[in-house]
Amino acid sequence: MSRIRVVVLPGDGVGVEVTRAMQHVLEAVARRYSHELDLEEYAVGWNAYDSSGTPLPDETLEACLKGPAVFLGAVGDPRADRLEPGVRPESALLRLRSELQCFANLRPAKVDKELVRMSALKPEIAGGCDLVIVRELTGGIYYGTPRGREGSRAVNTLVYDEAEITRVAEVAFQLAGNRRRHVTSIDKANVLEVSQLWRSVVEDVGARYPDITLEHMLVDRAAMELVTAPSRFDVVLTSNLFGDILSDEASAMCGSLGLLASASVGGEVGLYEPVHGSAPDIAGRGIANPIGAIRSGALMLSHSFDLHIEAEAIEKAVQQTLANGLRTADLAGREDNPVSTEEFAHAVAEAVV
Ligand code: IPM
Ligand code: MN
Repeated sequence: MSRIRVVVLPGDGVGVEVTRAMQHVLEAVARRYSHELDLEEYAVGWNAYDSSGTPLPDETLEACLKGPAVFLGAVGDPRADRLEPGVRPESALLRLRSELQCFANLRPAKVDKELVRMSALKPEIAGGCDLVIVRELTGGIYYGTPRGREGSRAVNTLVYDEAEITRVAEVAFQLAGNRRRHVTSIDKANVLEVSQLWRSVVEDVGARYPDITLEHMLVDRAAMELVTAPSRFDVVLTSNLFGDILSDEASAMCGSLGLLASASVGGEVGLYEPVHGSAPDIAGRGIANPIGAIRSGALMLSHSFDLHIEAEAIEKAVQQTLANGLRTADLAGREDNPVSTEEFAHAVAEAVV
């Protein structure tokens, strides 16, 4: 029996709904495998700003730093558009990632056989695709200084040092060792000095993993290959901004942004969040797809608690629920009758064996 202690940050919009769904599945797993669940909830994002004037209150950050795992639904609200960047809900997420030193963000994108039909790609191209994006998460243009606005100009800075590139590359090569042994490192080395450094550091790390093949690819070409030949990718290693963009693109291959999960690792505490945002356009209607959140819960069990069988049980339960024909609105074809976020989560919880 383990104690599964999780700091839960539902956040904004559909983040709240998918977090409930994930919790429901986690409770089922804890019951089935006799673990003790200890979930502590804190505010983050717009709702935290609205009630306390800051999107990341001290007590939230302190709880997260204690770990060992943090689950976050989503942050963001249109009412925050008028705010300064430093107090916008997104800044809470960026600060949290940085404070927790979660420098490697793993975003698996696998096309479910049940959902090939929903892929934005032709079935013969999408079928069987299975890749993981390893996105550098605590550096690059998201964090570089100087940054800011000055009259008619605005500045952001893209900066990486060797140590930041080395540590995230190590994560990618290690992951590839347990997969199909192929790393594609994505950059813009034909234009950016930072990418030239990125390329040479990744090359050096790769030399220590002789049984893993490494290829470098420019980001524009990668964006094209992801939709024309996605099966050529196994582990995709890239910087913060490129990884952000390419992971949304990869989600179209899978059928919906709502499907993708993520694990942010590297520090003492793991941070787990679905790849999608707070989706204000559909928030509060109970129609969000909870699969990305539920799968993030599975990643949490395996990465932060070493509960691999339990994580596998969640994945199987999701597969079973899809095989039984249940679909949330984003995945429903014309002939399907969509179920709610809650109905889907209840079905997954019941399918946990
Ligand atoms: C993501 C999101 C965030 C990011 C936003 C909300 C700051 O798009 O996790 O992909 O850009 O990292
Ligand atoms: Mn994103």
